[in-house]
Amino acid sequence: MEHEGMLSREKIQELITAAIKARQRSYSPYSHYQVGAALLAKDGQVITGCNIENAAYGPSNCAERTAFFKAVSDGIRDFQAIAIVGSPEGDELTQYAYPCGVCRQVMREFCDPAAFQIIVAQSVVDYRVMALRELLPEGFGPENLK
Ligand code: THU
Repeated sequence: MEHEGMLSREKIQELITAAIKARQRSYSPYSHYQVGAALLAKDGQVITGCNIENAAYGPSNCAERTAFFKAVSDGIRDFQAIAIVGSPEGDELTQYAYPCGVCRQVMREFCDPAAFQIIVAQSVVDYRVMALRELLPEGFGPENLK
């Protein structure tokens, strides 16, 4: 696997840049909160996503799940990391956007909790990196059903 192992600073910054770009496509006319995500597959592909809201509210989808569902529906199931950027509408990133509980559970379905890296960023030089298991300890996953 070409891109497995520790993420370089360059790779992290590339993912943050892709997430910032994806955030520009956020469809969030109700919350006015814009989120972008860039998911790194183990083969090096980067799949992006934005949040997509709905007038009925319930069908709204987070940026992270958009990226995961795009990837899985294209046959990609092995992932290394995800960068997430989110803030109220506007060009500025004013906070770290940690993934919601539902998105953490979707990550748990496809990713090794100890290895999968979650990057939350406010810029390419201001970011935090953590493993999925830190954000979803003792999670329930596919192996429980085996
Ligand atoms: N949202 C995401 O896309 N990802 C998160 O991790 C948190 C929340 C979206 C959902 C909704 O469109 C908006 O942000 C406000 O909750």
